[in-house]
Amino acid sequence: MAKIKSVFVCSECGYESPKWYGKCPGCSNWNTMQEEIKESAKATSISQRRVSAYTKPVSVNEISTKDEERFDSGFRELNRVLGGGIVKGSLVLLGGDPGIGKSTILMQICKNLSSLNILYVSGEESKRQLKLRADRLGVTDSNLMIMTETDVEIIVEEIKSQKPDLVMIDSIQTMMIRDLSSSAGSITQVRESTNLIMHTAKDYDIPVMVVGHVNKEGSIAGPKVLEHIVDTVLYFEGDKQMSCRILRAVKNRFGSTNEIGVFEMTDKGLQEVENPSKMMLSGRPKGVSGTVVTCSLEGTRPILTEIQGLATQSGYGNPRRMSTGFDYNRLSMLLAVLEKRAGYYFNNMDAFVNIVGGLRIDEPAVDLAICMALISSLKDIPVLENAVVFGEVGLAGEIRSISQAQQRVSEAVRLGFDKIILPYHNSKNVDNMGAEVIGVKNLRQAFEAISE
Ligand code: TYD
Ligand code: MG
Repeated sequence: MAKIKSVFVCSECGYESPKWYGKCPGCSNWNTMQEEIKESAKATSISQRRVSAYTKPVSVNEISTKDEERFDSGFRELNRVLGGGIVKGSLVLLGGDPGIGKSTILMQICKNLSSLNILYVSGEESKRQLKLRADRLGVTDSNLMIMTETDVEIIVEEIKSQKPDLVMIDSIQTMMIRDLSSSAGSITQVRESTNLIMHTAKDYDIPVMVVGHVNKEGSIAGPKVLEHIVDTVLYFEGDKQMSCRILRAVKNRFGSTNEIGVFEMTDKGLQEVENPSKMMLSGRPKGVSGTVVTCSLEGTRPILTEIQGLATQSGYGNPRRMSTGFDYNRLSMLLAVLEKRAGYYFNNMDAFVNIVGGLRIDEPAVDLAICMALISSLKDIPVLENAVVFGEVGLAGEIRSISQAQQRVSEAVRLGFDKIILPYHNSKNVDNMGAEVIGVKNLRQAFEAISE
């Protein structure tokens, strides 16, 4: 019997080697080499076999831009994240934790676009399960074709003969090419299946939305090159226990990547959240120390969020620091600044920070609110309920100015907040907007302003 040959492939960069390495020689990542069954030479690149005709260069003026035609997905939040709708011929990869709502949103797009011919391919669920979900979501559309298939070549044939307006594939990890001997979900299968689907999408100008599972690190399972192949990568974020779901683009060839879409999971599927600030602030405790409202900018949209801080006496020599939704290293830095520059001592305190609502914020403009929440908890003094605070905190303890202060102030005013604490340099441009504005230069000033 012929011995099965195996090869080790890096899940990050796709580097191949006959033996295993702890550290990938290609990208220097540790523990990324995975064993795969070696393919025979003729089968290795199915997608490459397709590259047949020589494509001549053309003048840029001769290229028509009708390629940019977009479908309205029926969800304004999704359209915004995509940069204005689903582009014809584009391949969109949708990632997220299990149960976050990937299949649900695809089915709801089918419902919204009932006038189009849509092919929904599922390799995970049976037709009956899909029908049950479709009924639950109120899909009553006979143009929607359901296919439960995992063989990519059969799916491609079906696309070629039917020429649907839109294709959904759930999920790429269940798809396989028969000629390849490795199992579905392996790096080779995922990469080659995506390649084949990509070429079909481009050749026939049909948009395809593909679901991708995420691995335990939170990135899409399969080689990192997968994200390079596709046009757009969207991630569904949010705490599964809570109803809020955030859709974020991490790559988009047809739009900006810093927009987010906010949804709420209800018993009738995902509903768009028109007013995310209001949702993020619902259930905010009153008269309690350690909770502060800030305004962060997600793309072009200001969103008010509640920041909670908790400082308690530490039982161990090494105090614990924990942050949810905020960078851990930045939290350590802010704690150091609070101690050294403002005299608030956390050296024997456990410190916890939580951004309520499952949002993840990387913007430095929330620094000041995090400091205020921690000081408020440390001193056990509640901050003013009607105040919003934002600003970047520098290593010298100074409050640095931030961008788009006007937008943030107007969002705060719109939701009924009437006291805004912000960097001194930003305070001049935001007078007369309907709120009392207090420009601050350092952390002590800020806490005095927000706690009296
Ligand atoms: P699903 O889309 O199947 O998740 P994924 O494909 O990302 O793994 O979503 C499953 C979750 O959503 C499940 O926990 C039930 C919940 N859900 C609702 O709350 N309401 C609904 O109308 C639907 C269809 C699902
Ligand atoms: Mg699913």
